[in-house]
Amino acid sequence: MGFKHTPVMPDEVVYFLKCESGGLYIDGTLGGGGHTARILEAAEPDGRVIGIDHDEDAINEARENLKNYISRVTTVKGNFADIKGILGEMGITGVNGIVLDLGVSSYHLEKPERGFSFRFEGPLDMRMDRSKDRTAREIVNKLREKELADIFRQYGEERWANKIAKAIVKRRKVGQITTTTELADIVCSSIPARYHPRDIHPATRTFQALRIVVNDELRNLERAIDDGVHLIKSGGRFVVISFHSLEDRVVKERFRALERGCICPLDFPECRCGKKPVLRIITKKPVIPSPSEIMSNPRARSAKMRAAERI
Ligand SMILES: C[S@@+](CC[C@H](N)C(=O)[O-])C[C@H]1O[C@@H](n2cnc3c(N)ncnc32)[C@H](O)[C@@H]1O
Repeated sequence: MGFKHTPVMPDEVVYFLKCESGGLYIDGTLGGGGHTARILEAAEPDGRVIGIDHDEDAINEARENLKNYISRVTTVKGNFADIKGILGEMGITGVNGIVLDLGVSSYHLEKPERGFSFRFEGPLDMRMDRSKDRTAREIVNKLREKELADIFRQYGEERWANKIAKAIVKRRKVGQITTTTELADIVCSSIPARYHPRDIHPATRTFQALRIVVNDELRNLERAIDDGVHLIKSGGRFVVISFHSLEDRVVKERFRALERGCICPLDFPECRCGKKPVLRIITKKPVIPSPSEIMSNPRARSAKMRAAERI
């Protein structure tokens, strides 16, 4: 199966990035190349994109999907958190915009062997970058009950975290938990049926929490924003699409901090840190997809886009 992925809010991405001919844009989450293709079209005839993804499959698929733009796109296998190093090695000091479309793609979710989905039986993996060692299986089978509960609570906002962690540890006594469906069953049976959420699968929050930890998603996002902003030329834009409240909170807080500049305590009579504002927030509230987009692309349902301009 190919890396079928319909880009979320493509018109909004192109609009907020202010794509134009001659521009150089970074797509930090290349995926199947959906956003990159739209950026390249909007920046004809000679705008360029550097597309980064830490998943080898995504890179291969994007190369195939972007064949028609080959002279204007460069693909890099890497983590967007390393954006400074990646661009540094390429000798690039300034770009016109950066876009991040966070999380997993439909491709990841539909491939049972990647272990992201509770709907299909697969190994408990969840690594986006398969050159990394730590899988969800290791976390689920090795961490202590309290550590597991903390992860489910903090990164899944799961109110049944303690019960789920307890059930996992109990189940481990008879053998390792190795598959996605085994874990999903344990989660389902830890939450009383009358409290099963109506709109999502009961294991959604637990799987989200594990995925965030396996891929260090929130820290990567913070690093990408803090370092990426300094690589954008004055007037260029930073656009981020997030899919759950924890990601959106990181984007909102980092953008606000970079807009504020000074980090001195409020009761200091004058600034001692010397930090100056580097961003101006463009979207006071997050931009959300239109109802018709959500109808045609259910993945867009929980998307929130925020954009800021480099001062
Ligand atoms: C939602 S998909 C992007 C889809 C893409 N915008 C498109 O239109 O085809 C997210 C992609 O980002 C990649 N990704 C997630 N976190 C990453 C990170 N820290 N560094 C590099 N790539 C990352 C995933 O491997 C996945 O391919």
